[in-house]
Amino acid sequence: MSFDRSIKIAPSILSADFADFGREIQAIEEQGADWVHVDVMDGHFVPNLTFGPTAVAAFRPHVRTFMDVHLMIAPVDPYIEAYAQAGADMITAHAEAGPHLHRTLQAIKATGKMAGVALNPGTTAETIGPVLDLVDMVLIMTVNPGFGGQKFIQSGVEKTQTIRRMIGDRPIHIQIDGGVTVETAPLVAAAGADVLVAGSAVFRGGSVANPAPYGQNIRAIREAAEAGIPC
Ligand code: DX5
Ligand code: ZN
Repeated sequence: MSFDRSIKIAPSILSADFADFGREIQAIEEQGADWVHVDVMDGHFVPNLTFGPTAVAAFRPHVRTFMDVHLMIAPVDPYIEAYAQAGADMITAHAEAGPHLHRTLQAIKATGKMAGVALNPGTTAETIGPVLDLVDMVLIMTVNPGFGGQKFIQSGVEKTQTIRRMIGDRPIHIQIDGGVTVETAPLVAAAGADVLVAGSAVFRGGSVANPAPYGQNIRAIREAAEAGIPC
C-alpha cells in the first residue's frame, strides 16, 4: 500500500450488527469506508470481550479494502501470529500491554504485516519515541478503550500535534480512535491525524437493509476532517 496523508475513514465494526458481519462489512465498504477497523478485546486489558482469531479470519473474505486489527489484549505476543494468519493487514498493539513493546513490534513486523502502536489517554507521546522507527502507524486513543459510544477526550488533540512533530517526514500514519464525530474530526485532522476510526458515528441511523446513512455519515466525517486541515 502506498503511503499518503489523505484522510481515511475506518469504521469500527464494534458498532455493527454482531449477527451479520459479512454484510455489514460489505455495506460500509460500498458506502465509502477506506479501511475496516476490528477491535479485539480480551476482558483483561480492557473490560470487554470481542473477537478471537477465528472470528477475524471469518471477516477476512468480506474485506476488500484494508483490515486494520486493533489488539486490546495482554499479553499480546502469544497471539500475534494467529491474528496475522487470520489475515490482518495492520496489527496494532498497545504500548501499555506489556513490558517489552520493542519486542512486540518486532514480532508483528516479522509476520510481514504492517505494525501499529496504540497509546491510551493516560500514556504520554514520548513513551513511543524509541520505537517510532519500527511502526507504520501510531493509534492515539481518545477514549479509554473497551466500549464504543464514549465521549472524546480533548487532550488527544495536543498529543496528536506532539506525535505529528515526532514523526517528521517518516511515512507513519496517525490514527485517532474514540469519540470521532463531525465535531471532533476537524480538530484531530488539523493536528495531523490521517486515519479516523468511527464506530457509533458511522453506523448511526443505518443497517444492512438501509445502508445509505452509513455513506452519509462517512462523507460527513470525511468532509469535516478535510475542512479542518489548514491549506
Ligand atoms: C474502543 C475502540 C474503538 C471504538 C470506537 O475501545 O477501540 O474503536 O469502537 O467507537 P466510537 O467511534 O463509537 O467511539
Ligand atoms: Zn479501536
